[in-house]
Amino acid sequence: MPKCMIDGKEVEFTAGENLVKVAKRAGVEIPVFCYHPGLSVVAQCRMCYVEVEKMPKLQTACSTMATEGMVVKTNSENVKKGRAGTMEFLLLNHPLDCPICDKAGECDLQDNSYGYGSAYMRGSEERRTYVDVNMGPVIQKNMNRCIHCTRCIRFGDEIAGIHEMVAIKRGNDIDITTIDGKTLQTEYAGNYSDICPTGSLTLKDFRFKKRAWMLKKTTTVCEGCSKGCNMEIQHEGDVIYRCVPLENLDVNRYWMCDEGRFNYQHTQDPTRIIEPKVKAEGGWKTISWEDGILGIKEEIDGQKPTFLVGSDLTQEELTHIKEYIALQHPGATIQHFGTPGLTSTQQDGALDQILRMKSKTSNLNGAEKLGIAPLMNDTIKADTVVVMSAGRAKLPKINAKRVIAVGVYLEGDASQFDMILPGLAFSEKDGTIVNHQGIEQKLKRAVLPRGKCKSLSEVLMLLTNKKARVGANP
Ligand code: SF4
Ligand code: SF4
Ligand code: FES
Repeated sequence: MPKCMIDGKEVEFTAGENLVKVAKRAGVEIPVFCYHPGLSVVAQCRMCYVEVEKMPKLQTACSTMATEGMVVKTNSENVKKGRAGTMEFLLLNHPLDCPICDKAGECDLQDNSYGYGSAYMRGSEERRTYVDVNMGPVIQKNMNRCIHCTRCIRFGDEIAGIHEMVAIKRGNDIDITTIDGKTLQTEYAGNYSDICPTGSLTLKDFRFKKRAWMLKKTTTVCEGCSKGCNMEIQHEGDVIYRCVPLENLDVNRYWMCDEGRFNYQHTQDPTRIIEPKVKAEGGWKTISWEDGILGIKEEIDGQKPTFLVGSDLTQEELTHIKEYIALQHPGATIQHFGTPGLTSTQQDGALDQILRMKSKTSNLNGAEKLGIAPLMNDTIKADTVVVMSAGRAKLPKINAKRVIAVGVYLEGDASQFDMILPGLAFSEKDGTIVNHQGIEQKLKRAVLPRGKCKSLSEVLMLLTNKKARVGANP
């Protein structure tokens, strides 16, 4: 492999790699603004200056490819002066907004200013200000903070496939905006906020709810479709504040869709059923777990109810269900359900040219691998039906004398059921899911179960036990 020298360290590279990437591998961080590994390189912010031997002027590391024997310095006096000059220029118009800016604590401008800028500025001109247009339900715009890196324009053009962000006017009057001031159309708008290196584009859903440094981060996988985008749940205590995509070049690269990003909101929906319930005259009656378990045992012990399992459940849950049925209800029918009109991975496919898949459940592939047959119709007729699912799988029409929900995540209308034992949301459990490519990925528990919800595996153990003893929630 070819080698070059970065700050005196010899480092290998592959042809076509730029100096930002190569330096990173050598443990040297080069500050950037306009460069993003998932977007084209434009080299317009001039933050990534480095000195390359035999080249008279400073070079931009993002647009300079490593070559055999190249000698690069990233911390010479010349480089420091160049970067400080860039910072001074970028901050000429930037407001002293950090204390009230949502990006504070995770802002590249803040970090690079602290690392490479100066505590003083020479300019005394008034800073320009903008009146911002409405960008739609996802993004809040504040152009006073913009440094014209054009990442957002390139994201729209190159990733979202929609030319909706543009730079109008030039020089001091430049404005990064949408065409004709329209609202954003893409269903991937949340990524604008992730890639903006300043607080110019922030998420409306997250603004002013929590400071970035107060959030705990749990690495997990989106359950929104069979793509399985890698993401981080950011939470404090048991409240989730936002989800952001994590890099996985084999699955979602750097991005995620808005549906997946905001899917967490359902887990905190006030209509979510978080206690065992039984249908009673005039509505629902809350019951204890003991009564719920005993009630269901009375209804189905020794019987062969039809089991409907969501293809949104994890491999561990589905395996446990199969074992439970083999032990307690041998010969009973088990079928998976999830997306109306889509019964197998053969019918799954891309919903757009970016990430989203047709299957609205995350583990269709896994359910198939476990040999569970699909429900072929959107209606099922049976005597007693037991439903187990995690919330994303869309319930079919059920025509049965008794419909029992066991370890089910449910919100809103629950009128199809006669009895409900509430289960966990994807953010409340560990487990394995298999995406449409056959890649196994792990869900990680970020928050504790809401209310009195229990894991499906615990509920199945209670149903299996001769003498069920129901413990407190973890
Ligand atoms: S809005 Fe953000 S991403 Fe877009 S050009 Fe300005 S600083 Fe860059
Ligand atoms: S594409 Fe699918 S897995 Fe990825 S974020 Fe969207 S819903 Fe989630
Ligand atoms: S990051 Fe290299 S010029 Fe902007």
